[in-house]
Amino acid sequence: MTRHITILPGDGIGPEVTKEARRLLEEVAQTLGETWTLEEALIGGAAYDQTGHPLPPETIAKCKASDAVLLGAVGGPKWDHLPGDVRPEAGLLGIRKQLGVFANLRPIRTWPGLLLASPLKPELLDGVDMVIVRELTGGLYFGEPKQRLDGGNAVVDTLHYTRHEIERVVRQAFEIAQNRRKKVTSVDKANVLESSRMWREIVQETAAAFPDVTVEPILVDSAAMQLIQRPNQFDVVVTENMFGDILSDEAAVLTGSIGMLPSASLGSGGPGLYEPVHGSAPDIAGQGIANPLAGFLSVAMLLRHSLGLEAAATAIEDAVLATIEAGHRTRDLAGHDSEPVGTEEMSALVRHEVQRRL
Ligand code: NAI
Ligand code: MG
Repeated sequence: MTRHITILPGDGIGPEVTKEARRLLEEVAQTLGETWTLEEALIGGAAYDQTGHPLPPETIAKCKASDAVLLGAVGGPKWDHLPGDVRPEAGLLGIRKQLGVFANLRPIRTWPGLLLASPLKPELLDGVDMVIVRELTGGLYFGEPKQRLDGGNAVVDTLHYTRHEIERVVRQAFEIAQNRRKKVTSVDKANVLESSRMWREIVQETAAAFPDVTVEPILVDSAAMQLIQRPNQFDVVVTENMFGDILSDEAAVLTGSIGMLPSASLGSGGPGLYEPVHGSAPDIAGQGIANPLAGFLSVAMLLRHSLGLEAAATAIEDAVLATIEAGHRTRDLAGHDSEPVGTEEMSALVRHEVQRRL
C-alpha cells in the first residue's frame, strides 16, 4: 500500500533537520520494500515569504490527504515584526487545529552517556523513560468566556472540557501504556477543581477496560516535585492542556539537550503530526551543526503511531542510542574532550546503524 508523508521543512534549522529525516525515511522505505511518497509543502516564514501566508491552503490540503506529517520548525527574527495572524507560529497552531490533533505525546528519556548534560544528579536520571500525554485542543487555553470584565477590574478564563474530549485522550494514554510498562499516572487537581474530579472519574472508568494497566491519580503540585525527585517512577503521564504544557517543559530538563526531544500530536483517524520539540534555532541555522536526532526520533514516532511499524521505530531509537554510546556528539551534546560532528555526519552515522538493525 502506498503511504503519503508530507514534510514541512519550515524555517531556520527546520530544513536542515528535515533533509536528514527525509534521507532516513527514504532508506527505511527502500530496505523494507515500502512505497512512500514524500512531498514537501510550505509553512511558517518560508510560506509567508512566498505566498503572504504562513499556512497556505495547498499545504493544508496536502497534509489532510497524507498518512502523516513531519514538521521541522518555524519562526525567526526575520518575521518577528509581523502581526500575529501572519506570523510563522500562526502556521503551526493552524496546522495542529486543521488536523484536529488532540493528544500531544512527548517521550522523555535519558541517554546513558548524556547524563552529565542534565542539571540533575546522574543517579536520579538512571532509567528515566516516560511519555507525557498532554490534551492539546481543550481546557483552559480554549474555554470561553476568556475576557476582561468590570471595565478591566476583573478577568475570567474558563477551564471547559466535554466528557468526549477527556475520554479520547485518556484512552490514548492507556493504549500507549499497554505497549510499554503498563502504568498510567493521571495528573489533576481533584482536591480543588471540579473539572479534575470529572477527569479522575473518567480515568477510573477507562481503567476498567485495561485490566492489565495500573493507574495512579496524582495531584499536579506533587507531580511537579516527583518529576525531579524520582523521575524514573513514571511510565505514561496523562493530563489536561495547561498542566501538560508546564510539566512537559519541566520534564524536558531531565534529558539534557532540546536537540534530542521528539513529539507526536495525534487525532482520531486523521494524519498524525510529528515534530522535534526544538524551534528554528536561528543562532545556529545555516552552519550545518544542528542536531538531527530530535527529527530522527520524531520519524521513529511517525513509523510507530501512523504506519504501525514498531520494529522499524525501535531500530531507529536503538541506532540513536548506539551512536551516542559510541561517543559521537553534535555540538549541543559535546563535552570538552570530544570533537563534535556536524548535522550530516551525525545523520550518516545513525542511518548506518539503522540499516544494520532493519
Ligand atoms: P530554539 O529551540 O530554536 O533554540 C533554543 C536553543 O537550543 C538555541 O541555543 C539553539 O541553538 C539550541 N537548539 C535548538 N535545537 C537545536 C538542535 N536541533 N541542535 C542543536 N542546538 C539546538 O528556541 P528559541 O531560541 O526560543 O526560538 C527560536 C525560534 O524558534 C523563535 O522564532 C521561536 O518562536 C521558534 N520556535 C519554534 C518552535 C516550533 O516550530 N515548534 C518551538 C519553539 C520555538
Ligand atoms: Mg510550553
